[in-house]
Amino acid sequence: MTRLAILADIHGNLPALEAVLKDMQQFNVDHVVVAGDNINMGPFSVQVMEHIVGFAVMRGNHELYLLDYQTPRAPAHWHDYTQPPWLSATVPAYWRNVIATLPDTLQLRFPGAPSVRVVHGSPRSHWEPMFVITPEDEMLAMLEGVEENIVIAGHTHLPMERQVGRWQVINPGSVGQPLDGNYDACYMLFDSCADGWRATFRRVPYDIKLLMDEFERVGFVEACGVTGRMIVEEFRDARPRISAFNRWRELTYPGQPATMAMADEFMALDNKWDYMLPAFRINMDI
Ligand SMILES: [Fe+2]
Ligand SMILES: [Fe+2]
Repeated sequence: MTRLAILADIHGNLPALEAVLKDMQQFNVDHVVVAGDNINMGPFSVQVMEHIVGFAVMRGNHELYLLDYQTPRAPAHWHDYTQPPWLSATVPAYWRNVIATLPDTLQLRFPGAPSVRVVHGSPRSHWEPMFVITPEDEMLAMLEGVEENIVIAGHTHLPMERQVGRWQVINPGSVGQPLDGNYDACYMLFDSCADGWRATFRRVPYDIKLLMDEFERVGFVEACGVTGRMIVEEFRDARPRISAFNRWRELTYPGQPATMAMADEFMALDNKWDYMLPAFRINMDI
């Protein structure tokens, strides 16, 4: 039997990663797989890379914010983003080079078990989410051409186990930034057995004050402005604040640049849940 620990979407959250690494010590894990978005959002990108460099690590879309910003590969709408410049300034060249050579997908071939494909978003894009509620025909289009019957994907920050056609699609959830209303770190044990692989989802508490203190210490909100503020809120209440805020802002203040006053107004709304994508409207009693 092979036992893997599958981690995804650590997002520069070192206290959450440390809690997960401690939790997995009790399970005799053979190897660790990290499915992208290792860096960015949280303030500990470099420290996270130092901890995971010996694992099977791949890239997600947030690695591209580091690697592609201000290159011809960057899409035009990144011009106004405040986060990539801060990321560039805080990640030294050594780690940029390490990340520049990471793979974008992994194929796991262990003896006595079916092969497993690991992707970040969908098999065809780091940016494309696969949710529980994504229509079956859309899922099939994303999975077309994938040889392996087992596909592990991150990116949504929501744990999932779903059968689609011949594919078993499994999301381990997010270590650093769960978005289901509970900020406890999420990861997955993955055991090979006679008829395939068995997933066991783990939820690990950690001291989020360590994360919040580091945001303060590095002056994150001062450096990244309204987006920085929403990122902090997103970690704190484990809900997708950035996209919801931008959706509300486009409806309420169309064409106007984001301000801290708008952020305050949004966070005080009783119905701010309404602006989340439906896939994230879960565990609303938390
Ligand atoms: Fe992510
Ligand atoms: Fe992602």
